[in-house]
Amino acid sequence: MSEKPIDSLYSFKESYLKRRNEIAVLLDESIDVNYLKEEEDVWTQVTSTLIPLYEKKACFEYLTALKKSKISSVKIPQFSFINKNLEKNYFKLIPVSGLIESRNFLIGLRDSKIYCTRFIRHKDSLDYTSEPDIIHEIMGHAIFFNSPLYCILNRAFGEAASKADEDQMKTLERIYWYTIEFGICTENNQKKAFGAGLLSSIQELCNFENLELIPYDLETIARDGFDTMNPHTKLYYFDKNFEESAKIIVEDIMKIISG
Ligand SMILES: [Fe+2]
Repeated sequence: MSEKPIDSLYSFKESYLKRRNEIAVLLDESIDVNYLKEEEDVWTQVTSTLIPLYEKKACFEYLTALKKSKISSVKIPQFSFINKNLEKNYFKLIPVSGLIESRNFLIGLRDSKIYCTRFIRHKDSLDYTSEPDIIHEIMGHAIFFNSPLYCILNRAFGEAASKADEDQMKTLERIYWYTIEFGICTENNQKKAFGAGLLSSIQELCNFENLELIPYDLETIARDGFDTMNPHTKLYYFDKNFEESAKIIVEDIMKIISG
């Protein structure tokens, strides 16, 4: 979620940006993207590293959702394929050309729409990308929508965003950032990732335990800004499993809009 124009973020080669823009204008989710061999290679290189890492680093709820997703590291999945799978949970991926304004993005979740980009990161930026590319969207978010609990959590953000005033919206964005994007829970005394930014980045997934990890607290996060363009120096964690963490987040979302 950001309002920065996507092309101004990096000084990638013109040919890469041109290709990305070709994909960005394909806004009909039923029409598949013909990915190039080099794009398929990027998907395979990143996801074949991420998937084995999940066994140790991802929370149980995500691992269960991953199995249901039938995603593999062999081929970039098309939105038409994923949407068929997500139908049962009433969510749908909708292609967008780039980052969209946060309230609109969240209200989309209320309406069962997951706005996602379809371009893939540059081959020189395999480990980390500050922009949401298709690896982030699918490995970080779309797979997780196979979990009914994750659906409830996302819908709660959307419902709240549709009612929030400007100050409440700012707090919602911060909670979203430190949970849906970079959330960490605890299972069997081990920190496990559930945030999309962690689950879609080799660098972040390998290193999040080395950051300053602060116990989750609504008031602290409500005061804490974040920088979408830079990796973190600190993150927040729950000392509970994903299910209990999600319950707390939903309660806190309710507090924000009723407070
Ligand atoms: Fe995201």
